[in-house]
Amino acid sequence: MSAFSAVEIITAKRDGGALSDDAITWMLDAYMKGEVADEQMSALLMAIFFNGLEPRELLTWTDQMIASGERLDLKGLSRPSVDKHSTGGVGDKISLILAPLVASCGAAVPQLSGRGLGHTGGTLDKLESIPGWRASLSNDEIRSQLEDVGAVICAAGQGLAPVDRRLYALRDVTGTVESIPLISSSIMSKKIAEGTNALVLDVKVGRGAFIKTHDRARLLAQTMVALGTSHGVATVAQLTAMNQPLGRAVGNALEVTESIDVLRGGGPSDVRELTVALARTMLELVGLDADPASKLDDGSAYATYRLMIEAQGGDPDAKMAEGACKDVVLAPQDGIIQSLDALDVGIAAWRLGAGRARKEDPVSAGAGVLCLARVGEFVEAGQPVFELFADDDEHLARGRDAITRALVLGEEPVPHEPLLLERISK
Ligand code: URA
Repeated sequence: MSAFSAVEIITAKRDGGALSDDAITWMLDAYMKGEVADEQMSALLMAIFFNGLEPRELLTWTDQMIASGERLDLKGLSRPSVDKHSTGGVGDKISLILAPLVASCGAAVPQLSGRGLGHTGGTLDKLESIPGWRASLSNDEIRSQLEDVGAVICAAGQGLAPVDRRLYALRDVTGTVESIPLISSSIMSKKIAEGTNALVLDVKVGRGAFIKTHDRARLLAQTMVALGTSHGVATVAQLTAMNQPLGRAVGNALEVTESIDVLRGGGPSDVRELTVALARTMLELVGLDADPASKLDDGSAYATYRLMIEAQGGDPDAKMAEGACKDVVLAPQDGIIQSLDALDVGIAAWRLGAGRARKEDPVSAGAGVLCLARVGEFVEAGQPVFELFADDDEHLARGRDAITRALVLGEEPVPHEPLLLERISK
């Protein structure tokens, strides 16, 4: 006879009570063993969605998620390790630039990433548009690439916090994704299990982010920083604006090409600004004194990028895919761009074929959107504002339909919106 009953645990949380450490440990363990059913775990997740978890409960919940699998051991590396996690935005290709950049400054960057779902693209999908590139590495390959090159971006192995995969799948179909304790424990259990010394969280706020308000983003950031810190991972969060897409390119191969522009010292100024700011914070956390901006300008970051891609079988000189069907969207009238809705642009890129609706769907490497103007710019009637790419006419028509909603023109000058909103540390 077990000392616990799933129903008692569910009802205790449903009624606003706090769960004991033993009850949490039992529940997650029994769920992994198949002794607690999906419908019972779903009910508990919904109770947590409404009633939250106290700090002690959240710590235990996260510890048990970590304990459900293996931990990567990065202790033997000669470089300090530091990672970055973004909560996901449209045109967010920062990881592709940041990992080799921070490695070129002397750190080891273990970026264990995922694939995209919905309107935000996944880092692995972007890199998989490079011919030959391989996302799956063994733990030994990860460690030796970190020692030799300094940067790895690869698929998070099945062994890290495996209970998260099952909980996330349940949350996805039960309306319980948007819960701060559940998001925090999901993200941080995987990052802590990855074994990094330090972590910078890029928490996106705005129309293209899954957290829409500054206050909720701050709470999420504070919760994740507290979890990282209490597990010995030096953690800082940066809240950043995600109302318009980052940079010009949204789509897999298009974003790789734009990342290379930034790695070679050019590219859109917002992408460079955010990359350099996050790199500075990462270096500060591990005590390395280097100037990341100069590593973009002198070619060191690009050289490390090439090594990182080649180490995983990719050809950094390969011609990137470009959708066979193209279209240009023109401004319907003169005006100042009042908004360029990141969510609408993300949905357009997704409909063009760059994203997936279900995890098993394929993505197109060459589909996507180039945003040719930014918020606050004046455009004339007939001036190109978007370029669309798709593999066939049907996807092109679907993307064109979605993109028309993204652009709002007006007469008023638009005040500049800062990209870096707030830094949260312990
Ligand atoms: N990303 C995750 O890994 N987990 C969440 O719960 C939300 C975003």
